[in-house]
Amino acid sequence: MKILLIGSGGREHALAWKMAQSPLAEKIYAAPGNPGIAEFAECVKISGNAAIVDFAKTHGVDLVVVGPEAPLVAGLVDDLDAAGIKAFGPKKAAAQLEGSKIFAKNLMKKYSIPTAKFETFDNLDAAKNYIREAGAPIVIKADGLAAGKGVIVAETLDAALSAVDEMKNFGAAGDRIVVEEFMDGEEASILAFTDGETIIPMIAAQDHKRLNDGDEGVNTGGMGAYAPAPVVTAEVAERAAEKILKPIIAALKAEGIIYRGCLYAGLMIVNGEPKVVEFNARFGDPETQAVLPLLDSDLVEIMDACATGTLAGKKISWRDEVAVCVVMASGGYPKAYRKNLPIDGLDAAKDMGALIFHAGTAEVGGRIVTSGGRVLGVTALDKNIRAAIDRAYSFVDAIHFDGAHFRRDIAARALKNV
Ligand code: AMP
Ligand code: GLY
Repeated sequence: MKILLIGSGGREHALAWKMAQSPLAEKIYAAPGNPGIAEFAECVKISGNAAIVDFAKTHGVDLVVVGPEAPLVAGLVDDLDAAGIKAFGPKKAAAQLEGSKIFAKNLMKKYSIPTAKFETFDNLDAAKNYIREAGAPIVIKADGLAAGKGVIVAETLDAALSAVDEMKNFGAAGDRIVVEEFMDGEEASILAFTDGETIIPMIAAQDHKRLNDGDEGVNTGGMGAYAPAPVVTAEVAERAAEKILKPIIAALKAEGIIYRGCLYAGLMIVNGEPKVVEFNARFGDPETQAVLPLLDSDLVEIMDACATGTLAGKKISWRDEVAVCVVMASGGYPKAYRKNLPIDGLDAAKDMGALIFHAGTAEVGGRIVTSGGRVLGVTALDKNIRAAIDRAYSFVDAIHFDGAHFRRDIAARALKNV
């Protein structure tokens, strides 16, 4: 099978790495890919729906795997489908689950899927009046895609009122806003494979969104992840499957929308009850860099089954190990940071057994240098959480670039929950 992978981040590196292990993967292309992905795929510089469809046609691509949300929301899978090309990823209508928070919230409300209580507004004064009555803490969200920055958890009334004004900074994404109840609990991410009928959850993971140790500092794209997440006990996983994952796929179907691909449920576990924080229409980053190394089954076979509606009855098996992924970021991220800083120790860490997933790197004159905010995801597998944490940090300590920033407490919470 010839596969075209869309994307250039750590998530896509993990996808390429895992797909390359499949005997079904005869050739992998990546658009645009990155220097890490280049080990498994031919990286091609194409972008935009029309160019991607054209490339897939002329190169006899059998399956297109879409990593990020933007092309999904822009209807790439619709265009591929119209050209008769198989794709792993939801069509535009289904990707609204991530592309419009109001769409997702209204669907959950209509089908009684547990989530925070909410109101939607297109008038900022009305939102403020509502907030004055509801009080803080309260959560304000831009409706559309805002590169992970469109959510403000306001601890005080003043912060909530100014959050409403800040929604103007998100352009059209902030024209409509959601104001929702603050949920107090522990977060977990459940990614699931689905073909629109059958949904098979992966091992639950936990992301670390804040920049600094102890969950301090600003929100980022994610500073590390680990799996399995002990907060998702067998009972919580069962509830999430029965009350959230199966119902949302059925709800979409009832609305005439078939969701195919990876569905990401961001959950808040409140007293053992999972509630939806958000849905994403794609794999999580960096959750994927922790979850996929634990997958024993053939990823290409599963993705093909999702794309062709034949997931029913598929058995997916997992390694009985723990994975910890530590993100190494550029100093200054998520604000301004320097680029083109040489990265040392990659080979040494690899020799120690590290799975290194490139996110923001470039190759300049045969050297790997930094080129993005999140630079690397460094993953370790081991038999238990303590051992996996120690192993992951021994790898991280072997890798150097100027100003590297990473958290020292990835997965520390899991130690408390075991
Ligand atoms: P989202 O982009 O919707 O995942 O939101 C970003 C982060 O804001 C989440 O990962 C949570 O930590 C937090 N958050 C969002 N909604 C809520 C909520 N209703 N209650 C508490 N925290 C929330
Ligand atoms: N790790 C959070 C996300 O992928 O949205």
